[in-house]
Order: sequence, then structure tokens, then C-alpha cells
Amino acid sequence: MSRIAYVNGRYLPHGEAAVHIEDRGYQFSDGIYEVIALRDGALIDEEPHLVRLERSLGELRIDPPMGRRALAAVLREVARRNRVREGIVYIQVTRGVARRDHAFPAKARPALVVTARRQGPSKPAAATGGVSVISLPDIRWTRCDIKSIALLPNVLAKQQAREAGAFEAWFVDEAGQVTEGSSTNAWIVTDKGELITRDPGNAILNGVTRRTILNLAAERQIRLVERGFTLEEAKAAREAFVTSTTACVMPVLRIDDMPVGDGRVGSLSAALRQAYFDYTADAEEEVEETVEGRV
Ligand code: PDD
Repeated sequence: MSRIAYVNGRYLPHGEAAVHIEDRGYQFSDGIYEVIALRDGALIDEEPHLVRLERSLGELRIDPPMGRRALAAVLREVARRNRVREGIVYIQVTRGVARRDHAFPAKARPALVVTARRQGPSKPAAATGGVSVISLPDIRWTRCDIKSIALLPNVLAKQQAREAGAFEAWFVDEAGQVTEGSSTNAWIVTDKGELITRDPGNAILNGVTRRTILNLAAERQIRLVERGFTLEEAKAAREAFVTSTTACVMPVLRIDDMPVGDGRVGSLSAALRQAYFDYTADAEEEVEETVEGRV
């Protein structure tokens, strides 16, 4: 079965799907994206993802390519045509096609591409139940709150992590504080049992999974603080983990080759990982009840 992509109004086999060479996404990374997980046919946290997509577009002054309901229908159709029930949908919107000039074109139609693929949640290392991270200087711009397709520092950081045998790279700002991972948000649990993650300013992407975990933690009366933490604090923490649409809640057992806590998956990380899987399973059940929401 060939994979099908939605490209500007058409559903096409990947081999035929293409954008113009003067698409501003291609030339300037002038665009934004979203990744939404599908679990048993349900789009997890669809609304906050679509709200964030609209916000990213607004910050870049790109018009939405279509309304939210129409886009929601396209996401389901792409998932359906690709027979993806466990995986992700990828949405990319660029400012569109125009003769190359840095300033915005007078009139360009935003370009929309949607793809889907099968993919389970990232698995922790079988032996340990967790992963390692390395730390790197945060060399990104100061608008990391926008989910921009300009991801070169993230790409380079992830590659460096892979080459070091690590799952993720944590970016550290000039004040010595961890901002986030190259494609995940960063969390620690202090020795007082406090759950800490960076506050959602311009230095991080306000992850949808991050917000869900904050809610789940609050429901469980876990003490939490949204603030920056230093790399030293992270290395001395009792527990650490990362969150994202694809990593869900992933325990971090080593930072720069130093064990976190006793080097094993901590109780809070394990509890929140389970709470998140229960939460996504509930979303699946809700869709089952409404039926037409299901792909
Ligand atoms: N990454 N921080 C960064 C820099 C990210 O790229 C992501 C998501 C997150 C977590 O956000 P969320 O919980 O909404 O997925 C944080 C996606 C999955 C990606 O680029 O593939």
C-alpha cells in the first residue's frame, strides 16, 4: 500500500506528492508544524495541538490554510487512507510559494501538507526502563515558543545525542539553566519530592504533553513548580524525565553519563508514565463512544 499525503487540497501517493521549489518553507523555513499522536484511532489532545498551531501561525502572521473543523477532517482522512490507528499525523503549514525575497510576499496562499505514519510511543531501553541525555549549549533563537520548522540546532543536537548513545540532548541556556530537549520538555523531581519543569516563556515550546502531565500531576496532589533548573540541580535530582507527543513520559536515568538518583526509574516518573497511558486510553474510549470521531 503506498502512503498517501494531503498536499494543498489533494490526496496523493508520496511518490507524486510535492511542493514547489520556491515554497518559502523550503527556502526560508518560513512555516510551522504540529505532531499529534493517534492511539487506537483517537487523536490525542487534538484541540490543544490545533490551538497551538493557530497560535504559531498567528505569531508568524501566516493565515490559517483552512478552518479548524476542516483541518480536523483532513487529519482523519489522511490517517484513514494510510490505515494508521497507532502512530502520528504530521501537519506543516508554510507561507506558500513566491519569488525569493525575505520580506513577506504581497499575496501567497499558505501551503498545507499532512502526512501520517504508524509508530508506537518511544520505548525506554529494555534493560533499564529509561534513557540517557547529554547536555549542550542552547544555540537556538529566542522564540522557541513558536513550533517553527526551522529546526537546525535541534537536528544537530539530536544527532550529537545519537552519536553519544543518548536518547536526547538537553539545551542549557547562558544562565546555566536547562531549557528543554531537542524535541522534548525536560523535568526533574527534587530530593524534596517536588516536580519541576521550566515555565512556559519564549525559551521553550509549551508542550501539549507537558500541559497534560501538569494536569495529571495536579490531580494527584503532586507538588509542582514551573521554574528553570540548572544542569547541576538536574544531576543531583532524585528523578528526571522528558515528555513529548512521541516519547510520552520517558524516564531519564543518566545525564552526561552521571546516574540520576539511584540510576533506576523513579516512582514518580513511573506513576506519571502510567497516568499518561491511562489518560490516552481514556481518550480512545471516549472516541469509541462518539464513533464518528474515530478514524
Ligand atoms: N516535538 N520541545 C520541543 C523543542 C519539541 O520539538 C517538542 C515536540 C516538545 C514537546 O511538545 P509536545 O508535547 O507538544 O509534543 C518540546 C515533536 C514531537 C517533534 O518535533 O517531532
